[in-house]
Amino acid sequence: MALVSMRQVLDEAAKGGYGVGAFNVNNMEQIQAIMEAARETKSPVIIQASRGARSYAQDRYLVHLMQAAVELYPEIPVVMHLDHGNGVATCKSAVEQGFTSVMMDGSLMEDGKTPSSFEYNVKVTREVVEMAHANGVTVEGEIGTLGGIEDGHGAGVSGLAHLTDPDQAVEFVKLTGVDALAIAIGTSHGAYKFTSKPTGETLKMDRLIEIHKKLPGVHLVMHGSSSVPKDLQDVINQYGGKLRPTWGVPVEEIQLGIKNGVRKINVDTDNRLAITGAIRKVFAETPEKFDPRDYMKPAREAMKKVVALRMNQFGQAGHAGDYQPLTLEEVAKRYK
Ligand code: 13P
Repeated sequence: MALVSMRQVLDEAAKGGYGVGAFNVNNMEQIQAIMEAARETKSPVIIQASRGARSYAQDRYLVHLMQAAVELYPEIPVVMHLDHGNGVATCKSAVEQGFTSVMMDGSLMEDGKTPSSFEYNVKVTREVVEMAHANGVTVEGEIGTLGGIEDGHGAGVSGLAHLTDPDQAVEFVKLTGVDALAIAIGTSHGAYKFTSKPTGETLKMDRLIEIHKKLPGVHLVMHGSSSVPKDLQDVINQYGGKLRPTWGVPVEEIQLGIKNGVRKINVDTDNRLAITGAIRKVFAETPEKFDPRDYMKPAREAMKKVVALRMNQFGQAGHAGDYQPLTLEEVAKRYK
């Protein structure tokens, strides 16, 4: 099986009424953790790399690692997605490198920091849609601005500063032709999302439901969707870490989102926490060890556990073999 189109994976998720986790990677162990979790739970997967990950790992390493994953796990449909592309050139280079899906985040200017105008967002996203669809590649757009900063990308504002306007979302989809739409409903990237368990005041699920009612056929994307579980925070702090008390997006809120059109759920921080906790534990308990495998193996296992749990909670488990993946050429013909 080759890398597959995200559009097809999300269309199938919509038919089946489930969500698909999109997990960030920048190295081999993270890809291995996701693929093992996918095999165990029989899940289709979306693996995503940000611009920061691309520069850390280099595209050719990432692409070849992804191709190895596809070769070793032929029963799993795998999407390789660019997270938060900041311009047409970045998305184009991802398509050329072999990514099967790209996000054009035109909610920010090319600096990845300054909130943009609606007109700018439509223009750059439309351009990416034309280029990507001609290659059978999926496009995710964003309207409204997420909170926080991830890998240097983000306005660094509160998650509530630029919520998605439902009517603007309808207009945006009509004018751009995106396959999936990321919306701002109060979430933010990173570990520090909420200072207490979120309520309807801080996490605007009502806004999401309103958008879904206006755009029932559009695949919605929830960014900043780590749950930042207390047990993962505790491991880090128990072994010398210094995380401040913090709350993420409760899984039951994500499940409510999935009932209301959310098909892609972005998770990075939870895996970072799991990896760091596992490594700290080995360092603290067995300081004489120095073979990287002694801590990378438990780190990989800890991430696999988190990913498998999310795959079950999002409902994608059991769906890997439901459909025959299309080639990107076939998908390109359908876009025409
Ligand atoms: P978290 O920081 O909540 O894991 O969000 C990741 C994300 O949205 C990647 O785009």
